[in-house]
Amino acid sequence: MRLPVPLDRAYRLLNHGPTVLIGSAAGGRRNVMAAAWCMPLDFDPPRVLVVIDSATFTRELMEASGEFSISVPTCAQRELTVAVGGDSGREHDKFEALSIATFAGEQVRAPLIDGCVAWLECRVIPEPHNENRHDLFIGEVVAAQADSRVFSSGRWHFDGADAALRTLHHVAGGTFFATGDVVGNDR
Ligand SMILES: Cc1cc2nc3c(=O)[nH]c(=O)nc-3n(C[C@H](O)[C@H](O)[C@H](O)COP(=O)(O)O)c2cc1C
Repeated sequence: MRLPVPLDRAYRLLNHGPTVLIGSAAGGRRNVMAAAWCMPLDFDPPRVLVVIDSATFTRELMEASGEFSISVPTCAQRELTVAVGGDSGREHDKFEALSIATFAGEQVRAPLIDGCVAWLECRVIPEPHNENRHDLFIGEVVAAQADSRVFSSGRWHFDGADAALRTLHHVAGGTFFATGDVVGNDR
């Protein structure tokens, strides 16, 4: 079940370093791409960093709308993650081509991806120097949700859940690590 995550706990959805899907929409177009370079930047108000290459269609839609979404995919979505990270939505609709189901966010128009385990809705905090020079975007998280099967009370709990629901951590070339084993007990 999808449940809201308090904004001061939203950083925990990304703190373990998952590869994510970036959703975007503007001018009647929408898109999704994979991003491994995405991390929390601040607790409250929550902010995130994401690197979005200047050649991507995602970048064009983000710059036009000032918004984006982050969906955190699972091991079961590995092929989908590689696929949306391997071609551009500029010429075709990846959602139709790959039968990707989405749902609407509460605060932004960028689509959220079904079957993921966490979702953050973000508004770009404009920093033109970082964007132009380093492809680095800062987003303020304005809404967050997570799948209660693996995230509740502000914590991930992959142990005991279906292994297919674990998150993906990109190494290189489409190889990922799965996360989820607890080391230490201060959770
Ligand atoms: C696992 C994975 C991680 C990726 N991480 C990033 C990233 O952090 N930043 C980035 O700009 N591109 C990243 N990419 C590449 C984009 O997803 C890729 O360029 C995509 O085709 C852009 O799509 P678009 O033109 O439809 O926006 C990654 C690709 C994969 C497969």
